[in-house]
Amino acid sequence: MSTKVEKIVEFKISRYDPESKRRYVSTYKVPIRKGTTILDALLYIKDNLDETLAFRQSCRMGICGDCAVNINGKPMLACYTQVLHLNADSLTIEPLSNLPVIKDLVVDIQPFFEKYKKIRTVLIKPEETFKQPSEFAQTPEELKKFWDLTLCIKCSICYSACPAAIDERFLGPTALTANYRFLTDSRDNGLDERLKPMADNVWLCTQCNSCTLFCPKLVSCANAILDDHCFLVEAGNIPRTVKDVLESVYKYHNPMGTHQSKRMDWAEGLNVKTFPDVSKADVLLFTCCSTTFDIRNREIAKAMAQILNSLGVNYATLGTEEWCCGDHMLRMGEKGLFEELAIHNIDMFKKFNAEKIITLSPHCYNTFKNDKPYADEKLNVQHYTQYLADAIRQGKIKPTKSVRKKVAYHDPCFLGKRNEVYDAPREILKAINGLELIEMKRTRQSSFCCGGGAGRVWTEEAPSEKRPCVDRVKEALELGVDVIAVACPFCVTTLEDAVKVLDVENKIAVKDVIELLKEAI
Ligand code: FES
Repeated sequence: MSTKVEKIVEFKISRYDPESKRRYVSTYKVPIRKGTTILDALLYIKDNLDETLAFRQSCRMGICGDCAVNINGKPMLACYTQVLHLNADSLTIEPLSNLPVIKDLVVDIQPFFEKYKKIRTVLIKPEETFKQPSEFAQTPEELKKFWDLTLCIKCSICYSACPAAIDERFLGPTALTANYRFLTDSRDNGLDERLKPMADNVWLCTQCNSCTLFCPKLVSCANAILDDHCFLVEAGNIPRTVKDVLESVYKYHNPMGTHQSKRMDWAEGLNVKTFPDVSKADVLLFTCCSTTFDIRNREIAKAMAQILNSLGVNYATLGTEEWCCGDHMLRMGEKGLFEELAIHNIDMFKKFNAEKIITLSPHCYNTFKNDKPYADEKLNVQHYTQYLADAIRQGKIKPTKSVRKKVAYHDPCFLGKRNEVYDAPREILKAINGLELIEMKRTRQSSFCCGGGAGRVWTEEAPSEKRPCVDRVKEALELGVDVIAVACPFCVTTLEDAVKVLDVENKIAVKDVIELLKEAI
């Protein structure tokens, strides 16, 4: 490490004294050199400034996983993270979330390992059948597939970042990923035994992607959990609520189970053109099942149509030929159904010869961009916030009417964490006259999921204190804001539900960004 001090950084460290049960913050100034890690800084504080500071560390080289802490709201390994790379003059260091704090930055990782112990982490082999050793060999393809899954160091970062882990029934990303590793191993013979521990709780995963995003070893936990769902679906081991949603989509091509003939009811009186009456338009508006069938969320589609009409955009929808994009089906493990929906929609996109597709939901946006077979088509797709932020920048929209509200923006996971669209919705909100935008404590990449992804918006059965949406609304209430703004119809549904559960409808409202924009123009 270089000897030259590059800068002095302020460390605000969250403390907890187990004897007095007192929580407080200690602040220290630490000289930072090139290569100084967060762990080096903590050791400097302990050796030179405050020997009472408690934190965990062992290998100091990213192997043992002991040193994981929250750094400015993001869970990271302290020994892996260089202070200068964070580009900050002040850092907030807190213990990992979702685990009980023992002292200062030291958390009790027992609950994490208790769950891990619920799965068998060795091969389950047939006891009686004699097999030739060659029959147990793994192919090079299998080895490649498993390689990243074996890199997990059990640091519990994914568990601490996971919104589903606020419900103690959830096994957590580490355990579910390890289980998947054995489920797909051709040498393993324990299908039933492996399905059992996850059957009643894997559905709590919202596929928010936090586990994958923060994993210091780049393990694709979210994809592994998705494939866990597939194993359960294939075995017919599906809860009734999930089965109902899948059946609705099979029969009606939408999860609400409403007849397709009603898909355009939302647009009554708005003069929205539809395919096949119109076979070509500059923009194809893909509306999403939620904004077309859900009475509350129809307001989002209506606002979009009104704004597009006022801009004079030549747009149309697929009308009754729009089928569910399939994102939730894919993430509930029904890959076959997802493909059926995707093939139909792609066929329609081709017939319509769509140059640009705008989606109202981040889930449609994400799946069109990133999931095969949609991704193979390289569709020109934008989320509506990107399209409207462009229009504001170009001076086509002037949100001059005053909206005097304190607004906290909640980043939807499928827009933010999965696609890094953080700025466009904020640009729209900042352009609104009189609106005061407040950042939530857990924001942008560290945003806390509303709990609606992977079909959980329809299948939620957890008690209120274990629902991510309730946790999120409580966080917004602490900020004293009038409105939680979102850019996803499923976030509207879950967060509005949480507002009702908490009985705070007179204190806070949930609105889509587009509804606030419509108020302002
Ligand atoms: Fe072992 Fe950081 S001290 S991973």
